[in-house]
Amino acid sequence: MVLLSADTLALERSEQIVSVRQAVRERAIELGFSLVDQTKIVTAASELARNTIQHGGGGAVLIETVNDGARRGLKLTFEDHGPGIPDIALAMKDGYTTAGGLGLGLSGAKRLSNEFAIESAPGRGTRVVIMRWK
Ligand SMILES: Nc1ncnc2c1ncn2[C@@H]1O[C@H](COP(=O)(O)OP(=O)(O)OP(=O)(O)O)[C@@H](O)[C@H]1O
Ligand SMILES: [Mg+2]
Repeated sequence: MVLLSADTLALERSEQIVSVRQAVRERAIELGFSLVDQTKIVTAASELARNTIQHGGGGAVLIETVNDGARRGLKLTFEDHGPGIPDIALAMKDGYTTAGGLGLGLSGAKRLSNEFAIESAPGRGTRVVIMRWK
């Protein structure tokens, strides 16, 4: 996998979600994503950014444009050093929330992405990586 570009944006305050949405939209346009695919990755990014701030106590997102030889894609890595998720399978279920939300952020982000990976451990934080290919 060849890295074509990389940007890191801080996620400490909810206003910064707007900047992440804009940066992801710009990269998606550069990659030639359709309007529908742009909206999918921007929506997924928005949900994961909100989780990083609300549940993870803040962190950062790494926005990378990659080429795997056959196609180009957008890779987003959300990382925090918050409380972590004790039961990932449960947290991934539609409707599961510990914060009075809709419980659709993680499951929605997965559905909107081509690849989805989550690593989390209590007390060590959470990392979510999503990919969307052109
Ligand atoms: N970065 C994170 N750190 C710790 N816990 C998290 C993190 N992201 C998600 N969670 C846990 O997973 C649960 C489900 O997340 P999800 O985004 O699906 O729903 P939600 O944030 O509660 O509601 P919403 O539908 O508004 O996003 C959260 O309620 C929280 O307990
Ligand atoms: Mg959420």
